[in-house]
Amino acid sequence: MLEIRDVSRRFGDYQALNNVSLQVQAGEFFTLLGPSGCGKTTLLRAIAGFDTPDSGDILLDGKSLLALPPEKRPVHTVFQSYALFPHLTVAENIAFPLRMAGLSKSEIEQRVAKILEDVRLPAKAGHYPEELSGGQRQRIAIARALVNRPRLLLLDEPLSALDAKLREQMQIELINLQKDVGITFVYVTHDQGEALALSHRIAVMNEGEISQIDEPATLYSCPDNRFVADFIGQCNLLEGHIIEQRGEQTRISIDGLGELSVLSHPEIEFADGDECALTLRPEKIRLAKEVSPDTDEVHFKGQVHDTLYLGDVTVYIIEVGQNSQGNSVLIEALLANNAPGRARLFDNGDSVEICWPRHAGHLVR
Ligand SMILES: Nc1ncnc2c1ncn2[C@@H]1O[C@H](COP(=O)(O)OP(=O)(O)O)[C@@H](O)[C@H]1O
Ligand SMILES: [Mg+2]
Repeated sequence: MLEIRDVSRRFGDYQALNNVSLQVQAGEFFTLLGPSGCGKTTLLRAIAGFDTPDSGDILLDGKSLLALPPEKRPVHTVFQSYALFPHLTVAENIAFPLRMAGLSKSEIEQRVAKILEDVRLPAKAGHYPEELSGGQRQRIAIARALVNRPRLLLLDEPLSALDAKLREQMQIELINLQKDVGITFVYVTHDQGEALALSHRIAVMNEGEISQIDEPATLYSCPDNRFVADFIGQCNLLEGHIIEQRGEQTRISIDGLGELSVLSHPEIEFADGDECALTLRPEKIRLAKEVSPDTDEVHFKGQVHDTLYLGDVTVYIIEVGQNSQGNSVLIEALLANNAPGRARLFDNGDSVEICWPRHAGHLVR
């Protein structure tokens, strides 16, 4: 439904967007995720029409939007702080765009009542914005953006001003709302947890370029590159090089750990000798005083280097060897603190063993 085709945008000598291409399906909850300054808002503003790309095209249903001013595009935007009119009630705020469009009084009333149901605030119709909480105000802002049924709703970090608890509640409501109204959402966030929780698909952006576009589970388990592996969740990155790639198996050498055989990447072709990194999620690693590895598991001995108590889990940083520069090779593993009264199973300096299934490690360039 929405196609971004080779869009570039430069501010002075800063390349804010560099040949960005992506496609969003109708009804999709699509997220642009990346660190601050990577170009997310710039891309959203280009879709909304507040800014014009230097080159490339933006198409909705196959037709270019570029010649249309923002108000002619069937697109609405919700920002982090969406200014509601303070002197208008909630119902009047929501009705505003419908009145501008010249709808009849009864049609307006019906639509406002329906959208207030959708955002679960039917009792607030007669209230003024200052009588609402931050989360409620943001829901009204979203209701106002949805009420004249845009093809596309753009949301730029709409929850980032809310505290953690409210944010989680609003995330659940956004998922349900998007399902109910069936409108395509393009959502911007720098928060990887939020992106994983909300989205059908995510485009990870880095320095004005797309790093990877995939479903949340694929991004998490099969990152295409180090940037994505590192940005999404916690990840061990073990540096090494390719010894040889044979079909589904690749033999690699990890500096400080030696040779091991891992699953080949389904898409990346490596040549013998290429540098690579093995990405390994901490929760895939088994950690114990002594582990008895299965035949398809990789096994190492080490010492606890550091621990980090997080309440539900403890993170253990395990030193498993030294690399050629004389630095410790550290691997991060997690253990759930589910035994009663046990906050920490190992202390710094304890000898431990770790292992992980061969298929758990994922190779990137
Ligand atoms: N109008 C502008 N003039 C100059 N530089 C800009 C302008 N808009 C954005 N930038 C720069 O472009 C880069 C990307 O900005 P932005 O798209 O806002 O990033 P994000 O939303 O991912 O945090 C930033 O370095 C920002 O300073
Ligand atoms: Mg931004």
